[in-house]
Amino acid sequence: MSDDPLQVRMRPLASSDFDRVLELERELFGPGAWTYGMLADELAGLGRWYVVAEPDGIDALRYGFGARPVIGYAGLWFDGDVAQVMTLGTAREYQGRGVGRALLQALVDRSRQLRATSLLLEVATDNEHALALYASFGFERLGIRKRYYQPEDKDAYTMRMDLRASTTGGHGDAA
Ligand SMILES: CC(C)(COP(=O)(O)OP(=O)(O)OC[C@H]1O[C@@H](n2cnc3c(N)ncnc32)[C@H](O)[C@@H]1OP(=O)(O)O)[C@@H](O)C(=O)NCCC(=O)NCCS
Repeated sequence: MSDDPLQVRMRPLASSDFDRVLELERELFGPGAWTYGMLADELAGLGRWYVVAEPDGIDALRYGFGARPVIGYAGLWFDGDVAQVMTLGTAREYQGRGVGRALLQALVDRSRQLRATSLLLEVATDNEHALALYASFGFERLGIRKRYYQPEDKDAYTMRMDLRASTTGGHGDAA
């Protein structure tokens, strides 16, 4: 999929990123997007770890000094045993260039650092791009949650990656 991989760097999500992340939420998740309050509450929760992706290297040059846009974001919740993917998204115009894979790899790496036994997630049953990404990392379907996504009224698969099973994630080569 990623014919022309984009160079990205990750940094922690800061409160100054809220407006941009909420803009991406609306672009990517429509009526199910988090509001300001939901995002603020989420980030204040225990065990959260959120990152944003920005263009790096040659791909940052066209934006000028200090003006790199946030083009993706992801976060997890670690409860002391397992980690849960809370969100993951790439701005539409940058999709298919390795950003989502790099973000998911960052979550897997962080989960391993935390010594989580597994990484869990929910994903809409019709989200083919995300399902392909998760399958390539070795996530396995656990079950289905009916009408999990509201107000869209969509079902979700629950999925798990066993972090004790191997030491690599995805293709082992995050972009
Ligand atoms: C899912 C999502 C995060 C993937 O981000 P991305 O930056 O486009 O992903 P990448 O370019 O890193 O591609 C990673 C994998 O995703 C899958 N994928 C991405 N775009 C795809 C497409 N157009 N067709 C099929 N598979 C695709 C492929 O498996 C790809 O791996 P490959 O490059 O080795 O073939 C992105 O589509 C997105 O933000 N979707 C909307 C929000 C969302 O659904 N988030 C997940 C919530 S559970």
